[in-house]
Amino acid sequence: MSNERHVDQVTGVETTGHVWDDDIRELNKPLPRWWLLSFYACILWAVGYWIAYPAWPVIAGGYTKGVLGYSQRATVAREVATASQAQSGLREQIAKTPIGDILKSPDLARFADAAGRQSFAENCAPCHGRGAQGSPGYPNLRDDDWLWGGKPEDIMQTLRFGIRSEHKQTRTSQMPRYGLEKLLDDAQINDVAEHVLSLSGTNTDKGAATRGAVIYKEQCVTCHGDEGKGKQEQGAPNLTDKIWLYGSSKDAVMQSIRTGRGGVMPAWEGRLDPVTIKSLAVYVHSLGGGQ
Ligand code: HEC
Ligand code: HEC
Repeated sequence: MSNERHVDQVTGVETTGHVWDDDIRELNKPLPRWWLLSFYACILWAVGYWIAYPAWPVIAGGYTKGVLGYSQRATVAREVATASQAQSGLREQIAKTPIGDILKSPDLARFADAAGRQSFAENCAPCHGRGAQGSPGYPNLRDDDWLWGGKPEDIMQTLRFGIRSEHKQTRTSQMPRYGLEKLLDDAQINDVAEHVLSLSGTNTDKGAATRGAVIYKEQCVTCHGDEGKGKQEQGAPNLTDKIWLYGSSKDAVMQSIRTGRGGVMPAWEGRLDPVTIKSLAVYVHSLGGGQ
């Protein structure tokens, strides 16, 4: 191995003088200056960064904190604290504002509506459907046909105490079980069902409907009203509007008269906090049928 430098014949570049196996020589091609300078600059910058910002794990646990005291965790914590402070302010306001006034305040109503929508998906959708459209036995909450009333206060009461629920203050009215308790026989149930269907113009047997009207007057007006329009204080549905909780077929109507149905809606007081219940009422009211 000799150390003499000479010019490589193929490339015309001077060699470093390093030779291997007598014949393999290293061309002298140093890194460009700009490259080296950026390289050193990067190293300096990295060292500066280590000093300024959190960087290295420490054997004792934790990490070097950096002299600027920067911490993403602290930043996030600060942002979360600000957001939840703003939220708890709104929640506090919702707690002490009567529901009627919440609806008049766009900010509160918007916040309550969003909270109500989320809670509805978790707690109510299994029975009332994702979009609150209901299904047989579970009322549609989007229309303006209300069993128990669609004013904000009515909805609040329904939500807090439930319907035929286990709560002491539940809504209780219950239609008699005319068939099961033999208050009416099959023929009478058939006739009064024809009368009920005639109230929305869908009966098929005039004679039966006429006989049924007499039974209706004796048995049903106290809850469903003289004209069959229903009474919300009894939770008794309007029988004239072609909106059926349990179905429009004669079988379904006869079944309602036989069994009295008696759908159960759970009470939410004690299970959900008061602000959430109020927010749910705002949301349900906003679905379109609120009065
Ligand atoms: C276990 C099933 C079930 C769940 C869960 C449920 N509901 Fe109900 N809900 C019912 C039934 C059944 C009725 C109808 C009761 C009746 O026949 O009078 C009802 C009635 C209502 C009514 C009265 C409708 C009217 O026309 O007056 C409202 C309002 C209501 N539910 C809202 C809700 C909200 C909000 C939630 C969630 C917090 C919820 N429900 C959860 C079963 C349920
Ligand atoms: C004590 C009050 C009361 C009396 C009396 C009463 N009902 Fe009802 N009726 C109700 C209630 C409450 C419901 C709703 C049941 C439910 O929500 O589960 C209802 C529901 C019905 C339904 C189902 C309506 C639908 O949308 O699916 C029919 C049909 C009906 N009643 C017919 C009658 C007839 C006919 C009589 C008389 C023979 C009668 N009811 C007497 C309270 C009453």
